[in-house]
Amino acid sequence: MTNSIALVKLIVMLDTVIGEVAALGVTPALRPWAEPSPSVPLRQLLSLARAHAARVKTWAPRSERPLEQRRYELLDRTADVEVWLIHWPTDGGLVLHDHGGSAGAFHVVAGALDETSTALGGRVLRQQRLRRNEGKSFGPSYVHSVVNSERAAATSVHAYSPPLTSMGFYQSTPGGLVLDRVETHWEGAP
Ligand SMILES: [Fe+2]
Repeated sequence: MTNSIALVKLIVMLDTVIGEVAALGVTPALRPWAEPSPSVPLRQLLSLARAHAARVKTWAPRSERPLEQRRYELLDRTADVEVWLIHWPTDGGLVLHDHGGSAGAFHVVAGALDETSTALGGRVLRQQRLRRNEGKSFGPSYVHSVVNSERAAATSVHAYSPPLTSMGFYQSTPGGLVLDRVETHWEGAP
């Protein structure tokens, strides 16, 4: 209950800040927040994703129905960290988003994922392809999009610390990223 109250207060605070910025006529670009310190160091977060990746199954199209949208499974959640398994269909992805102040890491188990990323306040988008057995970690202010551009399904494991409480989604404009919406309840994985 305490966490729920804190989350509601955080959402109200964010809405207030964004509203105030908009009222000043300034584009409410990247989402401001008091960055929580990750409970788990980035290196350990990536190691955790790798450890889970060694135990998961990749998508098997011949034994299951075709992968038409992202599929995900929560592998673990504690007070400090949560770990997700995600299967990505061709062209399946997630648009530019933050992780609500959580740090993260992901490791590609099968296939390849194309990532476009920037840090909070950054206007330069960096593109990177991560292939099988490659992964990376990122801090609380990280913003990225991820997509599977290959014909084969991709599988990856993602770890976050602290566990996600919200995600902000952005549009890329000539003036930089602009916050589109914040989601605090989602059925899918990050
Ligand atoms: Fe993400």
